[in-house]
Amino acid sequence: MINRRQALHSLFSFAAASPLWRLVEQERRTTIYPPVYGEEVMGPVNLHEMEDVARKKMHKMAYDFVAGGVEDELTLRANREAIMRIQLRPRVMVDVRGIDPSLELLGKKLDYPILLAPTGGKELVIPDGDLQAAKAAAVTKTIYVAASGGYKREIQGPMEWWQNTIGQSTKAAAQGFAKRSQDAGASAICVTVDNQYQSNRDRNNRNRFDYGYMSTGVPAENEKRAPISPAVAAMLQPKTPNMTWDYVDWLRSACSLPVILKGILTAEDARLSVERGVDAVIVSNHGGRQLDGALPTIEALPSVVEAVQGKIPVLMDGGIRRGSDVLKALGLGAKAILIGRPYVWGLAAFGQVGVQRVVELLRAELVLSMGLAGKPTLASIDRSLVRLPGEKP
Ligand SMILES: Cc1cc2nc3c(=O)[nH]c(=O)nc-3n(C[C@H](O)[C@H](O)[C@H](O)COP(=O)(O)O)c2cc1C
Repeated sequence: MINRRQALHSLFSFAAASPLWRLVEQERRTTIYPPVYGEEVMGPVNLHEMEDVARKKMHKMAYDFVAGGVEDELTLRANREAIMRIQLRPRVMVDVRGIDPSLELLGKKLDYPILLAPTGGKELVIPDGDLQAAKAAAVTKTIYVAASGGYKREIQGPMEWWQNTIGQSTKAAAQGFAKRSQDAGASAICVTVDNQYQSNRDRNNRNRFDYGYMSTGVPAENEKRAPISPAVAAMLQPKTPNMTWDYVDWLRSACSLPVILKGILTAEDARLSVERGVDAVIVSNHGGRQLDGALPTIEALPSVVEAVQGKIPVLMDGGIRRGSDVLKALGLGAKAILIGRPYVWGLAAFGQVGVQRVVELLRAELVLSMGLAGKPTLASIDRSLVRLPGEKP
């Protein structure tokens, strides 16, 4: 006599061994069904279109603050153009039934290699913007890099987050910041190293933007407010001009968190980062918002990857808008990428779920691109996937 439990067990074993079950299981593992958020949120079919929706909903000053770059926006454009010049060399006849974009980064397992870059001024976009974006990061299980302005108590919880900073000018202040970040639950400190001065952003200067609006929002038409930090053409406004490599030691002496430098563009600084015990670097030009004419990040990436010789992970941001862009960065040796503007567009368009949709779209595009490139895992992606301009196909 077999009991009910045994019967169920044998039925299950039989089903699990059947080709039909294997098909269902395979489908479950490889198919990412679009989550349904309602027609409006599902409207934009890609990250570019999310920007179109956001633009229509935003104050012009706020839109320009997010979209803009510095001066002639040469680097802003170059980030995109350089990515578009790179081509992929897909391989075929590879079993790509199961596609797995997961990875390990600084000892933590991540489902996919897309992180949310630090973006200050989200209050300009929607009230509570930082919190909404952080919640979206928790839902999509990505790492949230919380922008400067202090540690973020409100984003404690099951999520993984890094605390960003542009630095502090004294050792004591840096140590205090490091301790507070660790106590608040950050799992790394991400230091932005390209923000020595407030940069010269023509759009903000022209709009008579006030950087104070980054935390208060744009005032109403008839509202009179005293200026806080008005944008003025080519004004030398120091942020952290005294920050040098010793800053890394200052943080280290006060906390045990990994230290990540964001804004590395050259092999020289990549080598110094390794020598100074930095745990990871992010190849970044601040989304073309700091020094105009600086290298596009996808072009800077290979020399940084070569310089660190696999000793620390290299991440990259700037101009990533498609899953195939992510693939290009990974092919050139990036461990993961970050997005800035695209998730802010999601936030402006639809709040928290807009951010989720942006991340999910990009992730789904990446998985699909991996399948079409014959690269079922991140480990299977290497330099041979990418053709740089001028290289033989
Ligand atoms: C609105 C906005 C605010 C930003 N604020 C910061 C910041 O506070 N700290 C920082 O390191 N980078 C900041 N960045 C740069 C991003 O972290 C990131 O490097 C850049 O946006 C990546 O390029 P992408 O926008 O093309 O994805 C900001 C970018 C934007 C668009």
